[in-house]
Amino acid sequence: MRCTVTVRVALVLLTLFTTWYFAGELYPNKVDMKSLRRIFDNKEEEAPTEEKVKFSCGNDKPCPDGYFAFRIISGAANVVGPSFCFDNIIIMSSVRNNIGRGLNIALINASNGTLIKTGSFDMYFTDVKLLLEFLKPVQDGTLVLVASYDDPGTNLNEEARALFTSFGSSYAKKVHFRDAWIFVGGKGINTESPFEQYLQNNKETNKYDGWPEVLEMEGCIPRKTK
Ligand SMILES: *[C@@H]1O[C@H](CO)[C@@H](O)[C@H](O)[C@H]1NC(C)=O
Ligand SMILES: *[C@@H]1O[C@H](CO)[C@@H](O)[C@H](O)[C@H]1NC(C)=O
Repeated sequence: MRCTVTVRVALVLLTLFTTWYFAGELYPNKVDMKSLRRIFDNKEEEAPTEEKVKFSCGNDKPCPDGYFAFRIISGAANVVGPSFCFDNIIIMSSVRNNIGRGLNIALINASNGTLIKTGSFDMYFTDVKLLLEFLKPVQDGTLVLVASYDDPGTNLNEEARALFTSFGSSYAKKVHFRDAWIFVGGKGINTESPFEQYLQNNKETNKYDGWPEVLEMEGCIPRKTK
């Protein structure tokens, strides 16, 4: 009995070692070592580059004191949802699960930077009434951040367009089916916002089949003081 057990153990060990040996032959470690060394060598050859510093919201430039950093990315076609970063916090995104097709809107207190409310409004299937109920009560001193996803325009009516225009938008009048639009405005600002981008859905110029290129914008918004 004991003899058989010993033989079995020996056989198992032998099998293990042979497998190990052949596996080693088949996947030689040398290649890995070589490529690793190449990576390290190249690193050494390169002049030591400065780490690229990223600022609030991952932006390229820092914001002065008294400003909020923001970054807005529109939806990509009907595939990837938009995202909003404000003061280094992702306030709306697919991961946060608070965005959807249509118009995505974040309302922020312009004095203290607090997120008041977010809303996502399907502009293809849903009545514009819900959007109006969201926009009409917005109080003075509120920042309005907007990003399109898929179709921001089909059900927009004059009243909704006029509200966005009153927040400083230049393009709200033109937003239609599957256009791309990102915008930061405010209730009570009396000028056109510098923070707005728009691309028309146009077969000739679209990046994707039925949609224009993704829009992305970063910047600094002055904190409201009184
Ligand atoms: C900041 O603004 C929010 C939303 O308007 C408000 O609820 C909150 O009380 C304010 N916070 C402070 C510290 O004033
Ligand atoms: C913003 O917050 C301040 C206090 O920090 C408050 O006095 C003001 O009413 C708030 N404004 C809005 C639009 O919520």
